[in-house]
This record gives sequence, structure tokens and C-alpha cells, in this order.
Amino acid sequence: MLDVRPLEYGDRAWLERVLREETAGPMIVSRGHLHDGLELPGLVASHEGERAGALLHRVGGDELEIVFIATTVRAVGAGAALLAAAVELAARERCRRAWLVTTNDNINAIGFYQRHGWDLVAFHRDAVTESRRLKPAIPATGNDGIPVRHELEFEHLL
Ligand SMILES: CC(C)(COP(=O)(O)OP(=O)(O)OC[C@H]1O[C@@H](n2cnc3c(N)ncnc32)[C@H](O)[C@@H]1OP(=O)(O)O)[C@@H](O)C(=O)NCCC(=O)NCCS
Repeated sequence: MLDVRPLEYGDRAWLERVLREETAGPMIVSRGHLHDGLELPGLVASHEGERAGALLHRVGGDELEIVFIATTVRAVGAGAALLAAAVELAARERCRRAWLVTTNDNINAIGFYQRHGWDLVAFHRDAVTESRRLKPAIPATGNDGIPVRHELEFEHLL
């Protein structure tokens, strides 16, 4: 049984652990901006009563950015449920589009977003190389030994 609800203050310690494991700390860089993951609003997916994933977002103008998404219980639909809930939220906020960036090594996420109707709309060459100036902890090598250099931007139009 899957459920998605808004992030609450009581999720903070859990979220901190998820951010540490997935992004080496609470700070997240996207498109050259440094975000504190512990200050952003978000959504939490639960599977059979246990937290299974988190999504952090921010609304700017008529756009909703998914700044962070990760699941702690994989392949039960938590990722898909979080993505769908973010699109619903963007619609409620009267956004024109929802968007996010991922990195060139994240082959799993690149496939996942496209299977769920998100479109690859921009390639930001060496954006991660630039991001390391803001967050030196970003590793040089990512999934499957792939050098992490670029941001790929996906969007879902509303
Ligand atoms: C990308 C990520 C969020 C996807 O989350 P997830 O929880 O694995 O996603 P889901 O369970 O919804 O779907 C993954 C696959 O599991 C399988 N699956 C989903 N529900 C299932 C179910 N009930 N039973 C069996 N298999 C299922 C499907 O094959 C699905 O593939 P799809 O892409 O065709 O939908 C997750 O892999 C993750 O946290 N990765 C690490 C962090 C990361 O890379 N974040 C993105 C950075 S931009």
C-alpha cells in the first residue's frame, strides 16, 4: 500500500540521513544554485506504513522544480508515486511546467523520467564541474564508474 503526504517536521532526522546517503550532505546544487535540502518543502512516500522515499521541491514563478527525489524502498512504485504527486502539486500551484535536473551518470534516473512522460529538454555541459565550486563534496565519478560532469534537464508540461 503506497501513500504520499507532505513532508513534516517529524521527518527531519530521516530526511537528513537520506540526503547524507544520496547527496553527501543536505546541500544540493542544481543549475548553479545551492539549496539547503532541510529547508525545502517536500513530499514523503510510504510503503506499507514505512517511509519509502522523499521529494523536495520549490516553486519559482510558474515553474515547479523537483530539487531532490530518492527512494529508500526501491521498485515498489514509490518513485513513480512521488513524481505523480509533484505533477499534481504543480497543477494546483498553476505552474506551466515541472522540471528537474539529473547528472549524466544517472542512467537509471534518465530512463525512469522518460518512462514516466518527462522529456529531455536541455543539456547543460560541465554544469556539475561548475557546481563543485559550490559543493566540493560532489564526487568526480558516479554510477557505473561514469565521470560526473553534466546536467540533463527534464520537464513535464502542464
Ligand atoms: C530514480 C528513483 C527515485 C526511482 O525510484 P523507484 O522507487 O525505484 O521507482 P519505482 O518503484 O516507481 O519504479 C522503478 C521500477 O520498479 C518497478 N516497479 C515499480 N512498482 C513495482 C511493483 N509494484 N512491483 C514490481 N515492480 C515494480 C518497475 O520496473 C519500475 O520501472 P519504471 O521506471 O518502468 O516505472 C530511485 O531509483 C532512486 O532513488 N535512485 C537514487 C537517487 C536518484 O538517482 N535520484 C534521482 C536524482 S535526479
